[in-house]
Amino acid sequence: MTEPTTALPLPRFPDPRDAPSLRWGILAPGGIANDFVGSLRAHTGQRVVAVGSRNADRAAAFAARHEIERSYGSYEELVADPGVDVVYIASPHTEHTPNALLAIAAGKHVLIEKPMAATAVEAQEIADAARAAGVFAMEAMWTRYLPQTDIARQLLEAGTLGEVRVVTADFGGAAEFDPASRLFDPRLAGGALLDIGVYPVSFASFAMGAPASVIASGELAPSGVDAQAALILTGPNGAQALLSTGVIARTPWTASISGTLGRIDIHSPFWCASGVTVHDTEGHTIGTWLDESGRPDRQGMCYQAAALARYVAAGLTESPLHSLDETVSIIATIDEARRQLGYERLGQAAE
Ligand SMILES: NC(=O)c1ccc[n+]([C@@H]2O[C@H](COP(=O)([O-])OP(=O)(O)OC[C@H]3O[C@@H](n4cnc5c(N)ncnc54)[C@H](OP(=O)(O)O)[C@@H]3O)[C@@H](O)[C@H]2O)c1
Repeated sequence: MTEPTTALPLPRFPDPRDAPSLRWGILAPGGIANDFVGSLRAHTGQRVVAVGSRNADRAAAFAARHEIERSYGSYEELVADPGVDVVYIASPHTEHTPNALLAIAAGKHVLIEKPMAATAVEAQEIADAARAAGVFAMEAMWTRYLPQTDIARQLLEAGTLGEVRVVTADFGGAAEFDPASRLFDPRLAGGALLDIGVYPVSFASFAMGAPASVIASGELAPSGVDAQAALILTGPNGAQALLSTGVIARTPWTASISGTLGRIDIHSPFWCASGVTVHDTEGHTIGTWLDESGRPDRQGMCYQAAALARYVAAGLTESPLHSLDETVSIIATIDEARRQLGYERLGQAAE
């Protein structure tokens, strides 16, 4: 059992309950929307005031489950609600762009589930529209807003790890092939890279910046979506990220950043609240920090919502921790990996 020590910087993130309260509208009440609202209700002072579904009964059932005041049988009605400040978009990847553009056109701030869009071209469309409208837009890459990520950020900013040379991250799960599931449906931009590979790719971008080159190897599922992929990203200064993702086998879910002076390991699962251990170049432990906040698994999504509320209150239109340009660049890396794997429907709209 690893014991926590105090030799590391402490996370600078304030309690998510202390953020200014926004009025949230939930667009597409599926699986992740359920967890997101649960996290907001348990750990923040954010108010979920409305939900919109393509089906009025589904919206009403979701509203009843989470004690939400208003429910709508269309996304159009939801975004037109004058009592909603920010729309959380939780539809399948291919719908993020039309849904986000709808909310932005109605003057709403948007938090868009990961990946922000199915292609970099679409992500750029969202960024352009949000900037033109002057509303806040952010991809829901919640890992960026976890306390442990702020420890890694401080170590990178202070140069404690030296020059970053090697980044590793993996996110693979074992799912049974089901052509009816959005995970395997090419018309909904299914596949491992966009669904969970976006976490390792985003982690590499956080640790070493945008890659100068991308090499991808892997295999496709029978439906033509990517089922497993290994990526080598090389940064402009020679740093390399070795990433893996897939929907066939469960991998360790760890991440690390190795520099010329030391290494930080993000404990499994690296994408939710876990902990970190820092080592020197001899491999000795310098310090360990464990997340004991009681917000495990997807409950950690509360941090991104609190961060967004603070940014909006401060008059920002994008996240200083995760800009729209960086989000577009991360999806461009995934586009390139999918292209190399032979993903056939890359960039094609759903029929
Ligand atoms: N942050 C995370 O940890 C996390 C975890 C899981 C998923 N996600 C992301 O969240 C998004 C949704 O994933 P999910 O697992 O919640 O999916 P889901 O359970 O299938 O829910 C998606 C919802 O989108 C709506 N929808 C709109 N257009 C649709 C279409 N053409 N086909 C199917 N549903 C459609 C449906 O609601 P109505 O028809 O009622 O409107 C559906 O319930 C994905 O982009 C995924 O990457 C994030």
